[in-house]
Amino acid sequence: MTTPRPETLAKLTPVLTKRWLSPDAWRIGTYEKLDGYAALRKALNAHPDDLIQLIKDSGLRGRGGAGFPTGLKWGFIPQGDGKPHYLVVNADEGEPGTCKDLPLMTHDPHSLVEGVIIASYAIRANRAYIYIRGEAVHAARRLRNAVAEARAKGYLGRNIMGSGFDLELVVHSGAGAYICGEETALLDSLEGFRGQPRLRPPFPATHGLYASPTVVNNVGTIASVPYIVLGGADWWKTMGTEKSSGPMIYSLSGRIANPGQYECSMGITLRELIDLAGGMQPGHELKFWTPGGSSTPLLTAEHLDVPLDFEGVAAAGSILGTTATQIFSDQDCPVYATYRWLEFYHHESCGKCTPCREGNYWMVRVYRRILAGQGTHEDLDTLLDTCDNILGRSFCGLGDGATSPVTSSLKYFKQDYLDYIEGRTAPKLSDKQLVGAH
Ligand SMILES: Cc1cc2nc3c(=O)[nH]c(=O)nc-3n(C[C@H](O)[C@H](O)[C@H](O)COP(=O)(O)O)c2cc1C
Ligand code: SF4
Repeated sequence: MTTPRPETLAKLTPVLTKRWLSPDAWRIGTYEKLDGYAALRKALNAHPDDLIQLIKDSGLRGRGGAGFPTGLKWGFIPQGDGKPHYLVVNADEGEPGTCKDLPLMTHDPHSLVEGVIIASYAIRANRAYIYIRGEAVHAARRLRNAVAEARAKGYLGRNIMGSGFDLELVVHSGAGAYICGEETALLDSLEGFRGQPRLRPPFPATHGLYASPTVVNNVGTIASVPYIVLGGADWWKTMGTEKSSGPMIYSLSGRIANPGQYECSMGITLRELIDLAGGMQPGHELKFWTPGGSSTPLLTAEHLDVPLDFEGVAAAGSILGTTATQIFSDQDCPVYATYRWLEFYHHESCGKCTPCREGNYWMVRVYRRILAGQGTHEDLDTLLDTCDNILGRSFCGLGDGATSPVTSSLKYFKQDYLDYIEGRTAPKLSDKQLVGAH
């Protein structure tokens, strides 16, 4: 393990993570001692429209993957329409490699609860939900405890802090399906239906939960709100880059010395993140990595100095996504890694549309053939052709995302595929595993 250089260490920007190491950080007493609920007090004295403008001015963009401007999304909620409004927090965190929302909810659940109250006040919602994935029992327990503590202190319920604003907050556990992280599938699931994406338009801003105006935001997006309210838009913009403002929690996993969450200003590079994480594991050299989960095209050692913000990663041919950097070395096989991801997409495909349901099924079969040493050169064309029929033709982003590892690994590591096909790499799968892609 190497020691981070002082200039890289200075790039750590603990804002959302600043309380994580405090003893009992999840308790309301600790939270209140460390500025907790001060932003709420300030927000409730402001006009809701001014809060929406503040979030617009801060340049905050969604932390769930697509980077949509948050203030703009809040501004889409029609006002004075006489309908109930809802805030739904997307805490599904299913993207492979992503581990930023669960630690936040486990270590500092009150920051999310406070963000929910402020955001609900801004969009005039009197009911909010946190939709958390079913397996995350520990985080759900912490959240429910935080909600109970906040309610006991008068931060939730009727007439919050004497402001006249009422809010009920429900923590809802899903059953653990990747597709339920897609915002419209999430809404169906929350309503008690099978989680499958809805046709858009109409968008959730006008026809969301129970066909009413709804904002769906990621955990990190909503947890950022109290800091912006307290620190101001200009302070927020001192971090990050021009179009990607603020700090971001990067989750690092794979062949590095110290995997975990590193909060830095947007625009940090992978070279710096690896330095912060104590370097690569001994004996490993970087070969490929995902900038934001497995749905984002792979990058290579050539891209170590790409700024990890929305624009920088796009210019390098990938997507910032969830900032889940999964790091692979010269001892890892990009063909096998892609196969494992495809097994995931195939398994998680909700089956609603043909390109994703059938395409992923067949691509898994082709990968099995290649990895069992029985692939052909035509298989590579079949893979690209299948991706071409999935990308842009699927009903939701799951199908599109599934093509990312396939096309990018073929772009950068075609030789690794050829080595299986031409017999230079020993088969990784046996004949038994070849049959019966389920
Ligand atoms: C298959 C799929 C899975 C998704 N999973 C998540 C997730 O787990 N958490 C999340 O916040 N967004 C997820 N998203 C993105 C959401 O649809 C939505 O864009 C996001 O919750 C909006 O919040 P934001 O604007 O704060 O980023 C997923 C999208 C797709 C297509
Ligand atoms: S792309 Fe996949 S997950 Fe999305 S609707 Fe189609 S089948 Fe379902």
